[in-house]
Amino acid sequence: MKRRDTGSAWIIDALALRVDLKKGALPLTQQLYRPLKEWIQHGELAAGQVLPSSRHMAQLLGVSRNTVLAVMDRLLAEGLLVARQGAGLYVAQLPTLLRRSAASTPRPTCYSSRGNTLLGLSSTLSNGYRAFSPGVPALDLFPREQWQRLLRRHYRHADMSWMDYQTSGGLPELKAALCDYLRLSRAVRCQPEQIVITQGAQQAFELIAQLLTDSGDAVWVEEPGYGGAQACFLASGLAITPVPVDKGGLNIALRPAHSPTPRLIYVTPSHQYPTGVTMPVPQRLALLEFASRSGCWIIEDDYDSEFRYDTPPTPSLQGLADQASVIYVGTFSKVLYPGLRIGYLVLPDELAADFTRAHARLHREGNYPIQSALAEFIANGHFTRHVTRMRSAYRQRQACLRTALAPAVAKGLRLSDGHAGMHLLAELNSFDQEALLVKRANDEGITLSPLSRYYLSEHKRPGLVLGYAGSTEQALLQAGTWLNDAYLATRDTP
Ligand SMILES: Cc1ncc(COP(=O)(O)O)c(C=O)c1O
Repeated sequence: MKRRDTGSAWIIDALALRVDLKKGALPLTQQLYRPLKEWIQHGELAAGQVLPSSRHMAQLLGVSRNTVLAVMDRLLAEGLLVARQGAGLYVAQLPTLLRRSAASTPRPTCYSSRGNTLLGLSSTLSNGYRAFSPGVPALDLFPREQWQRLLRRHYRHADMSWMDYQTSGGLPELKAALCDYLRLSRAVRCQPEQIVITQGAQQAFELIAQLLTDSGDAVWVEEPGYGGAQACFLASGLAITPVPVDKGGLNIALRPAHSPTPRLIYVTPSHQYPTGVTMPVPQRLALLEFASRSGCWIIEDDYDSEFRYDTPPTPSLQGLADQASVIYVGTFSKVLYPGLRIGYLVLPDELAADFTRAHARLHREGNYPIQSALAEFIANGHFTRHVTRMRSAYRQRQACLRTALAPAVAKGLRLSDGHAGMHLLAELNSFDQEALLVKRANDEGITLSPLSRYYLSEHKRPGLVLGYAGSTEQALLQAGTWLNDAYLATRDTP
């Protein structure tokens, strides 16, 4: 009985907010009956949820036990509660009809236009760990036991001060380890003080938008491009100009005529998302020159450049820039796992302290034991070993997908070169074929990401973004064979 009461004590707290013991208020039975009935009918109290004992409820609410018993009897009589011998009262499984009428309550109309834009962009998120999901790393190959041992040790020895809010823009040890790694492997010019650790790249984009732009400012993004960054810019009230990507990435010469001078330009120069092209040095220099001339900031999103298979790594854009106009954003979502939610900014010297302060104010920092474990993971070489292992696993996974799709390629399916990254781009013949394949895949339980979804303007191209890193070779062969057959069957779709 005791366990039951503590497990559902929050119901009493919720009722306490509704109960008015003053003279002249509604009768207490009604004050208790109405919210309970509403919560049960709307599903806020789920079927099977146990209710606190009447004695406990009466005591904490300061009402008589008879009042509570009268309410429970009424809810029992109406079939909203059921009694189980010796175990108390539970919320009943309601007939769907009753539930449906509750669910048809109109959706609130309270959202701002920015909120509605954001909700519109949020409907396509899928959480599936399935063949072809782009951007999902090999969760099955992550050294979980080693990582959990490390986490346990760092939690055990955690500094007591880490239980408080933090204000340093990330654990200094993590910034130092990261700085060494970025300087050596990505040719990023940085000192640890220039780094701010965030909850993933997404929070880094948000911080940049909050601090460096005003509502209505223009931001240029790649087209096709990454929806996560676009959602963040739109939610910050920025005006997005999609700039076409060519075989060298975002090409400022192709920007729409009369585009407003941007405040920000967002690029993925090492491995453009989703086309996979790398920006060559002359195009990088042209971009840097434009940014410095027009006084705008470049956001360099270097999200998966660790995974290169048969080409040398390209140094970062930030490392090329003499002027401090590039803000480098990185993430551990691809190289370790997305649920870790650790990313970072490398900021020009003069911005770092202010970003740190604003980050602490806006987001409240914490989770230093995890950052401490990650610092050791990097400093002790586990990180580099994991990257090396993943490189070879992803190379093999990509080869499996190519094998499965070889007959379709022989019949005209165009696949991207796959020199780097975690996905391939398949170009299709028509939007009808794209839609048909996505629908058929959906019926089979396979997630296919249509290329057209990565465009904001009308100048779209049909295709598929095929993630391969997160699936086993067997799953890729199976799903790849299905896609191969489906491609061949729909090849003549106009
Ligand atoms: C282009 C790009 N940048 C960044 C990210 C990672 O974002 P986060 O660190 O917020 O998980 C992704 C993930 O899908 C991505 O595709």
